Amino acid sequence: MKFFVDTAEIDQIKELNDLGMVDGVTTNPSLIAKSGRDILEVTKEICSIVSGPVSAEVVALEADDMLAEGRKLAKIADNIAVKVPLTWAGLKTCKTLTDDGIMVNVTLCFSANQALLAAKAGATFISPFIGRLDDLNMDGLELIEDIRTIYDNYGFETNILAASIRSANHMSECAKIGADVCTAPPNVIKAMANHVLTDKGLAAFMADAEKAGIKIV
Ligand code: G3P
Repeated sequence: MKFFVDTAEIDQIKELNDLGMVDGVTTNPSLIAKSGRDILEVTKEICSIVSGPVSAEVVALEADDMLAEGRKLAKIADNIAVKVPLTWAGLKTCKTLTDDGIMVNVTLCFSANQALLAAKAGATFISPFIGRLDDLNMDGLELIEDIRTIYDNYGFETNILAASIRSANHMSECAKIGADVCTAPPNVIKAMANHVLTDKGLAAFMADAEKAGIKIV
């Protein structure tokens, strides 16, 4: 499973990228706003750091405007994936950009039907939002399972990019289901390493090493 980092914070991207943990980056208007930077400038910098797909989202709502914005975003770098919302305008834009050889990430997906439409429109990535479904006491992971089944039934090549990831458990569960990608905030990726027994075992090893005077010199 590929790891994408869901942030526009350069330092956090660099830190995880140096560890080989970054296969791509996703941003959205809220993350760009949080960065306080110009979208074209910060996206260009991200593309200079990460060789994998970098999702940059349009802010227009009508297809013609989305297409114009998408083409502008695609010009930033070859690894840009233009992010469009799962609306009919977004699906129309997805089809046109995909036909032009531009990667498209269809976002704000909350149902299997929406994911089916995105695959039919040729999306490179579909972004089902797990956490926001869980927030409503619905089952975000069940949506990932449903999309995986449907895409495998018919050989759709659209990559399932599980998004709105809120926990390390989401990461492992998505991997068990067979999501192609998870995009997560840096802190969630870091939390994957945490286990109380690891901490406890390491403390015991260090205490015994000190007691025995073990030195590797
Ligand atoms: O970037 C898309 C998605 O990951 C947003 O996550 O936590 O705002 O629902 P969240």
